[in-house]
Amino acid sequence: MSLGNVHYDEKLASVYDQMYPIEFDTSLAVDLIASLAPAGGRVLELGVGNGRIALPLAARGFQVHGIDGSEAMLAVLRERDEKGEVTAIEGDFTETGTGHTFDVVTVVLNTFFVATTREQQISCLRMVREQLLADGKFVLEAFDPTPYHGMEKPEFSMRHLDDGAVMLDTLQVDRSHQLMYATHTIIDGGRPETKHHVLRYAFPFELDLLAELAGLRLVDRWEDWERNPYTARSFRHVSVYERADAPA
Ligand SMILES: C[S@@+](CC[C@H](N)C(=O)[O-])C[C@H]1O[C@@H](n2cnc3c(N)ncnc32)[C@H](O)[C@@H]1O
Repeated sequence: MSLGNVHYDEKLASVYDQMYPIEFDTSLAVDLIASLAPAGGRVLELGVGNGRIALPLAARGFQVHGIDGSEAMLAVLRERDEKGEVTAIEGDFTETGTGHTFDVVTVVLNTFFVATTREQQISCLRMVREQLLADGKFVLEAFDPTPYHGMEKPEFSMRHLDDGAVMLDTLQVDRSHQLMYATHTIIDGGRPETKHHVLRYAFPFELDLLAELAGLRLVDRWEDWERNPYTARSFRHVSVYERADAPA
């Protein structure tokens, strides 16, 4: 399926775990999300990918649902989910809801920014609101755009994937539209292919306003999954929202 902006094809899916070698963060994220849901509660992950977060949550007894636009990432998830514990559907979470309600809805690793217009971001947040139970929580992890918003020229970097493969990354920012254009090229001895990603970044205070427009309110913000305080020096945030009509 084509989501315009989502290009996690088989190639990217095959190197995903090396692209994001963040095992330490995974267990902290799972702990925090688990602490916000009742035992055996219902959790939805937007952009569930290969199940990095969803599978350990399901192993802890939560009823986990996920939505993802990439067939290739979902194929890896199904392969890893031997007991079929995660209910995963293929779809665009910026346009489609699941039709169910949850104790926790989460979107991690900047994935929310794949909604590339302000309107798309609001509509995505409205769908989150619709999928939250009355006392449910929405957990969003994203980078703080400050270092990127001032970028004057493209940046180039390289990641080591394994002994025979590297990934070349370029990053450009159009701050007039808060858009970030990234390319990823894998050099592994095969034919190099370049994947393009576009993100519409938003500052935390804008996210809070968009969330308010969608009927959500901020309840907590930390700089990481360990609940360290969010400060002027934080370059990412883990933010928790609830329904604006939730009992105080
Ligand atoms: C950075 S990965 C995160 C995967 C997983 N949540 C994790 O933490 O490892 C982003 C995921 O979001 C999916 N994705 C991106 N845009 C999407 C969209 N509009 N609708 C559904 N899935 C999307 C991609 O296919 C990919 O699996």
